Amino acid sequence: MIGERTTNKRLESIKVIVHEMLLSIDCMVNRQEAAVHLYGVSTFASMLAMKRGQNPELAAIAGMLHDYYVFKTGINEFPGPNSAEAVRPIIRDIGMFTEEEQRTVLRSIFYQGDGSRSHGPYEEIVKDANVLQLYFQNTSYRIPGIDVNRLRNVLGELEIVGEFKEEINIEKETKLQLNEDKRRKLADIAEVLAGQDIIGVPGDERFREICKYWPDASIYKVLKNSWCAAFVYHSCRQAGFLLPIRYPNGIHRFAGVGAWLEWAQLPETGFFHHDEQNGFTPQRGDIVIYDKLLSDHSHDHIGIVLSGNEKEILVAEGNRDNKNYSSIFHRERRHRILGYIRIDNSYQYHFSGDYNPL
Ligand SMILES: [Fe+2]
Repeated sequence: MIGERTTNKRLESIKVIVHEMLLSIDCMVNRQEAAVHLYGVSTFASMLAMKRGQNPELAAIAGMLHDYYVFKTGINEFPGPNSAEAVRPIIRDIGMFTEEEQRTVLRSIFYQGDGSRSHGPYEEIVKDANVLQLYFQNTSYRIPGIDVNRLRNVLGELEIVGEFKEEINIEKETKLQLNEDKRRKLADIAEVLAGQDIIGVPGDERFREICKYWPDASIYKVLKNSWCAAFVYHSCRQAGFLLPIRYPNGIHRFAGVGAWLEWAQLPETGFFHHDEQNGFTPQRGDIVIYDKLLSDHSHDHIGIVLSGNEKEILVAEGNRDNKNYSSIFHRERRHRILGYIRIDNSYQYHFSGDYNPL
């Protein structure tokens, strides 16, 4: 059950937060496009909710927030999972939504790009509202193949006879890149970056690049002296290993070492190895997870392996020893190492499970 709807104060409160985010977009054209898209989707969502006997305010809120991360960071990958993750603390801390409502809003945001399946009423409202906004802002726009049936169905539901053109499917380059040695690329990138002596302060542009994925206002404070995992995330992304900022239902974000360990041990990955187990030896492009290296905590530090021999590994680390600068140096292979992550070169993020954000 959706909680009682007394006023639209919640929608107004969300708008204040979205406006604040929009103001942080430097380029005026981008800012306007973001506003048009968010308001458009929000309005269509509200209309569809009313038509389908759902709560229009909640649908409008989901629409207003559905691309929050994309516009906040300028990062287009995984708009659903990343926006849901960025919105999660916002709608929790605002204290105006029941848990059920939070779940409804977050799931609608999360599944926005999943056209291959149908979900609950609000998820479908946001997907349909997105397609309607795309179509009605310019009806000569070519509709992506995956959205054609959805648009046809929703126009039919609204008894609108609309004509539209389908986007011509251009063979994506991704196929060519399947055989790419991304682990090698990861090591190359980490080697260049770590060798630059990046300092973990907001005044260092390279540090800001590493932090840009994390939408929190206090991110520089949060990551100060603890950006080893953020460095790995940034390097992985540059190398083409793309992941949302948190694996769905994961306990941690990839800005923390725990998330890497958790993700690498999933049944769908299985990338985690102990040294010398089944003949495993660390290689260039592996990710090393340390154990109680700098604290009493397990898996308290992470780096990228550049090479290894019987005694040592050469590593590239952001935030060497938590002293807030990046570095390349040797560590003992048999000293406080929990294990290694070897990402499959062909790995592509794909989540088909049930997203439960709370
Ligand atoms: Fe959108």
